[in-house]
Amino acid sequence: MSAIQIIVGSMLGGTEYVAEACEETLIELNYKVDIHLKPDLNNVINNTFPTNNEQNIDSDLVKKPIWILCTSTHGAGDYPDNIKQFVSDLTHCEQDLSTVSFLTIGIGDSSYDTFCKAAVDISKLLISMGCKELSTIKTFDMSEDIDPEDLVQQWIRTNIDLLSI
Ligand SMILES: Cc1cc2nc3c(=O)[nH]c(=O)nc-3n(C[C@H](O)[C@H](O)[C@H](O)COP(=O)(O)O)c2cc1C
Repeated sequence: MSAIQIIVGSMLGGTEYVAEACEETLIELNYKVDIHLKPDLNNVINNTFPTNNEQNIDSDLVKKPIWILCTSTHGAGDYPDNIKQFVSDLTHCEQDLSTVSFLTIGIGDSSYDTFCKAAVDISKLLISMGCKELSTIKTFDMSEDIDPEDLVQQWIRTNIDLLSI
């Protein structure tokens, strides 16, 4: 079974709770998960493509890496500060990431014209790098969705087949 890398963009902490709710559900469903609250591209890549010694007999880890991007949007459609360096490093990354499949979960507020733009932008960036999007972006609207942690857990359970790649 693949180890899933959850990469979190959060300014005020709300999206961290949503990401941790995802992590909790995935672990309940027997997935191996690494969560990155302060994402560092080298760490994410090292966990995604472990060397033989680090593989702990899980060959799928190398063949079918999955990333879940879970990010809010701040400013006028900007990335949260904690994920800006990750995105910049990704933009300049020379490693082949085309074997990475990903899902994006966007947290935003529909009163902004730039609703969940950071999530949209990071998805586009990953697609431009050859990564495979497993589903269209799942968004949560903080002006309507009262309990996004509960909703994301329901969504993961309902859509778990997406991760069976
Ligand atoms: C200053 C500020 C700017 C924001 N800009 C956007 C935006 O452009 N688009 C959007 O969808 N949401 C925007 N939001 C809403 C946040 O994404 C939302 O409150 C989210 O829950 C914050 O998550 P976090 O606690 O993980 O940072 C903004 C919120 C603040 C406080």
